[in-house]
Amino acid sequence: MPQLNILILSTSPKSEATKLFFDAAIRRGHNPMIKDPNSLYLLVSESESGYDRVYTGEGEYAERLKAKEIDAIIPRIHGGVNFGVPIVRHFNQNLGIFSTQTASGIRAASNKFETHQKLSIAGIRTPKTIFAKSPKHIKFLIEKIGNLPAIAKTVKGSLGLGVMILKDVEQTNSTLEALYHNQVETLLQSFVDSKAQDIRAIVCGDTVIAAMLRTGKKGDFRANVSRGGTGSKIELSEADKQLCIKAAK
Ligand SMILES: Nc1ncnc2c1ncn2[C@@H]1O[C@H](COP(=O)(O)OP(=O)(O)OP(=O)(O)O)[C@@H](O)[C@H]1O
Ligand SMILES: [Mg+2]
Repeated sequence: MPQLNILILSTSPKSEATKLFFDAAIRRGHNPMIKDPNSLYLLVSESESGYDRVYTGEGEYAERLKAKEIDAIIPRIHGGVNFGVPIVRHFNQNLGIFSTQTASGIRAASNKFETHQKLSIAGIRTPKTIFAKSPKHIKFLIEKIGNLPAIAKTVKGSLGLGVMILKDVEQTNSTLEALYHNQVETLLQSFVDSKAQDIRAIVCGDTVIAAMLRTGKKGDFRANVSRGGTGSKIELSEADKQLCIKAAK
């Protein structure tokens, strides 16, 4: 395989995940570099055949990143989707550089309702989910997703923060009212009784390369490790593997 110049975009260059990517690239004989996406300047050219550009402002002087010398980018975008998505689009579509993720993929994954819509379009089952601009008919909405308990989930959110369990009508009403009053886009979802367990699977191309069974800590329905849950290795059935691959696509 030829040596590739790989640009890893990461706001935390010293994090374990970034280091793993960097070391894996070195082991395979590639030439990785890390840049902080928050230090970049994206330029859209004015002329029809002009070149769009990326500049890096990490040092004292800003300098042009030579796009021709970059073969691939690995975006590690988190928490900063509003700037991260245009950065990935600039590299990938404006400059034509291969990216391990697409701008639209990152945007969809960062929006839980868009994720559910895309899964549904692709014929992949998800829990019944309702999204509304201003939910007024609470009893009707609860009926539509099945019954209580139900889950309320902020459209943007990660690490289990923003996922709430609603046990009665009063609680559902007051919780949704508070969220909508504060302009927090929220969806209402049927509760899946999984004994606080879920499975995280990592798909690479057409293969599930790793899977973990996560169990939430005592007294919490959320399985997130970041909320105190624990993970253990699990071997998936062939049907589950196929589901993961289809969902990742
Ligand atoms: N409909 C549901 N019924 C029961 N438990 C749920 C439901 N949705 C989520 N959970 C639990 O809450 C946890 C967190 O939910 P979810 O994965 O949707 O949000 P997140 O982890 O904050 O976001 P992301 O996975 O996008 O980073 C899940 O791992 C699961 O254990
Ligand atoms: Mg999650």
